[in-house]
Amino acid sequence: MTTRPQPGVPQCPVSAPAPPPDRPLPIFGPTFSADPHATYARLRAQAPVAPVEIHHGVYGYLAVTHWSVSYLVRNNPDLFAKDPAHWRALQLGQVPANSPALMMMGPRDNALWKDGAEHLRLRHAITSALDRVDTFALGDSVAQIADQLLDAIAAAGHADLMAQYAGPLPMLTVIGMFDCPPALGERIIHAVSRVFDAGDDAAQANADLEAACLELTRRKRARPGSDVISYLIQGGLTDEEMVQTLLLLFGAAAPPTTEYIGSALLDIITDPQFAGSVHTGVRPVEAALEAVLWKNPPVANYSPLYARGPQLIQGVLVQPGYPILCSFAAANNDPDLFVGTSPSSFAGNRGHHAFSAGAHGCPAPGIARIIGQTAVERALDRLPKLALTINRSDVPTLPGPFLAGPTSLPAQFQPDTTRPALYGR
Ligand code: HEM
Repeated sequence: MTTRPQPGVPQCPVSAPAPPPDRPLPIFGPTFSADPHATYARLRAQAPVAPVEIHHGVYGYLAVTHWSVSYLVRNNPDLFAKDPAHWRALQLGQVPANSPALMMMGPRDNALWKDGAEHLRLRHAITSALDRVDTFALGDSVAQIADQLLDAIAAAGHADLMAQYAGPLPMLTVIGMFDCPPALGERIIHAVSRVFDAGDDAAQANADLEAACLELTRRKRARPGSDVISYLIQGGLTDEEMVQTLLLLFGAAAPPTTEYIGSALLDIITDPQFAGSVHTGVRPVEAALEAVLWKNPPVANYSPLYARGPQLIQGVLVQPGYPILCSFAAANNDPDLFVGTSPSSFAGNRGHHAFSAGAHGCPAPGIARIIGQTAVERALDRLPKLALTINRSDVPTLPGPFLAGPTSLPAQFQPDTTRPALYGR
């Protein structure tokens, strides 16, 4: 068992005497995103929970073994808190106000950032609402949304499958689950994309989004239906809690599912493991989707937790006050998992951490799988001879650290001459 020296000053957890690396490795930027697994391997060689630079000037730890990630998420909230009130650099005003880390890890008044009874109350409202989603109807509605998006590109014979398909599909699905009136749905989609772009008008976009979510909540209070918003309202949430919970649902549901679909399409088109066998039906689409969750999970590094006092994690002494991110991507590819076996023998095994686990584990893996599988199957059915127009190695990817997957998938396919071309050509 190794006990490593740990934080001395608030900014950086490796400034204690004789830290192992000269500088904490960054888990963002072009070098990281070109080969995140190389960085995970270097970190694993340092420690199961290693110091990292999360974004410019933002420091913490990354848990990179399957064991350490399991230990962290299963010991929340008792040993490790989710509430960013425990983040010392944030309390000291040392986190740059425009840092993407703040956007993804800063406090928000919703279930994701709460511990204990408050978390259970808000989460219970969410799980009770999502459990009532009719999954057969959901599959049909995803297929319809997929077909509308595919109708728009089928005749052109080429498209960016991220911008024109995997990007919009999950958000349109969530809007459908909310049974949102079309005009309000468009306002929400527009505001969400401005918030995610994190441009200069992000604060205004956030205000617009909150106003639209409040309007939607009030409409559903007046005229409840069989939809997720009405079910959440029945869970007893106030207007303010409804708005924050809807913001959480948009953020938690849409971007990871977009990357899930994009990464699976990329593998099916280009990976010899899948390229022939999924198209010919030898391997189901489901196998390719599950392989993404193992190898390249869309939520790559997240679930920041804070030690309640000094804590030993797999032999590493971790100090309070610093975010400890769980690397679901590194955990799933931890060589210790594959001793005496091979990753391919994990087919059908869902023991990965792509949906996290424990108190904050994703409440919607079933919904995510229905959206992902339906979207990928419809694209493969409707776009014959689908191929990338660039080399796989040139596919641009998210710069990290939180989400992983392609940002663009320029593709060509046999045009559907029975339909008018709406885009491109
Ligand atoms: C492939 C798609 C998805 C992946 C990989 C994924 C993954 C995750 C992960 C890793 C977490 C834990 C985050 C943390 O602890 O900080 C999480 C939480 C959550 N996810 Fe998902 N998710 C996906 C899709 C969805 C969908 C479709 C929904 C809703 C319909 C959803 C709703 C949520 C919510 C509400 C939480 C917060 C739970 C809590 O804090 O108690 N997710 N998800």
